[in-house]
Amino acid sequence: MTWGRMLQKRCLLAMAIIAVPSWDSHAALVALVPTFHRARWTTKRPSSCRRRLDSSCWSDDINDNTSGPSAIRSQSPSPTNATALQMVSFYRFFDTATCKETLRDTVFDAFREMVPGIRGTLYIANEGINGQFAVPVNVVDAFVTVCTQHHLVEQTIDDLNWGGVLPIETPTFQKLVVRTRDVILRDGLSNHDSLNWNHAGEELTPAEWDHQLRRQSSQSLRLIDCRNEYETRQGTFQDAIPLNTTTFSESWPVLQQQFATGQHNKEEPVYIYCTGGIRCVKVGAYMTQTLGFTNVKRLKHGIIGYQKWHHQQQETKEQPDVSSLWQGDNFLFDKRRFGGRIN
Ligand SMILES: *[C@@H]1O[C@H](CO)[C@@H](O)[C@H](O)[C@H]1NC(C)=O
Ligand SMILES: *[C@@H]1O[C@H](CO)[C@@H](O)[C@H](O)[C@H]1NC(C)=O
Ligand SMILES: *[C@@H]1O[C@H](CO)[C@@H](O)[C@H](O)[C@H]1NC(C)=O
Repeated sequence: MTWGRMLQKRCLLAMAIIAVPSWDSHAALVALVPTFHRARWTTKRPSSCRRRLDSSCWSDDINDNTSGPSAIRSQSPSPTNATALQMVSFYRFFDTATCKETLRDTVFDAFREMVPGIRGTLYIANEGINGQFAVPVNVVDAFVTVCTQHHLVEQTIDDLNWGGVLPIETPTFQKLVVRTRDVILRDGLSNHDSLNWNHAGEELTPAEWDHQLRRQSSQSLRLIDCRNEYETRQGTFQDAIPLNTTTFSESWPVLQQQFATGQHNKEEPVYIYCTGGIRCVKVGAYMTQTLGFTNVKRLKHGIIGYQKWHHQQQETKEQPDVSSLWQGDNFLFDKRRFGGRIN
């Protein structure tokens, strides 16, 4: 098979997988992750709360609401010579309340100036940020630099959830959009404000997750699929308990009913997973803080991360024969390929 043919095949595969469910929106797997320099990293909070006064540099196609707290910064992707787009997504829960608008304006400027051709969306809310982007492969380093400089991800480059690589002409996002909104993940929780999203259980790498699940007997395993019923139907981890919800907001009464009773030992591990990890932050916070579980474990980068890890194990022949604990497809539904908004 020629390189071009192989790339094409991969791209088709990536396109088939790349789709993203409304909120747990993390770009797809597939191994073609580009190499990039490891940028220097710090764990500081965003330092970008600096008002940019020069609005004359907005180009004409930056429209929408250009002032006030609900302003939307957007522009069509600038020209690029790249032939492929790297999909990537990330989220981070932290308090942006005092600097939402300045963060929006600075990050938008940084992306448009330093990452030509970037397209995708970054949401900024009081509770944190959530972004999904298609980045021309020749400017991935610059993208990482912007994410680093503005502390869009917490600690390491590994916090970026790298998806597949698609041909440049693939319809992904129509624009670069950076906007503020009320929440990054709508949850319908009545005690939303009292929960601390940074106290949401332990995050396990896919390798740790795989190792620990294999050690558990299926009788004692408590493994919760935090996604909706239509997602679970497509595929699931062995022995997972589905919540059977149709929207994320329905999760709480189900969790109450299932886990609030006295029959549960709250010190024993509870494993939770979702598509890309963001929903598990909220479920983990609820299980820990509202229901009192002390040993909640979340799968880092969700099913996407697990599938990618498993794929890499097979490729590098580290564990070529070990079957995946995942069974079925990762349900992904992608509005952005059809130009729709993801919300
Ligand atoms: C633009 O922002 C103003 C001030 O925040 C708000 O009142 C108005 O509804 C917004 N318009 C649109 C179209 O979002
Ligand atoms: C694309 O490549 C041409 C020729 O190398 C160069 O002149 C042009 O500036 C490049 N455009 C972009 C957007 O990088
Ligand atoms: C969801 O439905 C399945 C199949 O009917 C059932 O086994 C499971 O217990 C349900 N989950 C919850 C949390 O009730």
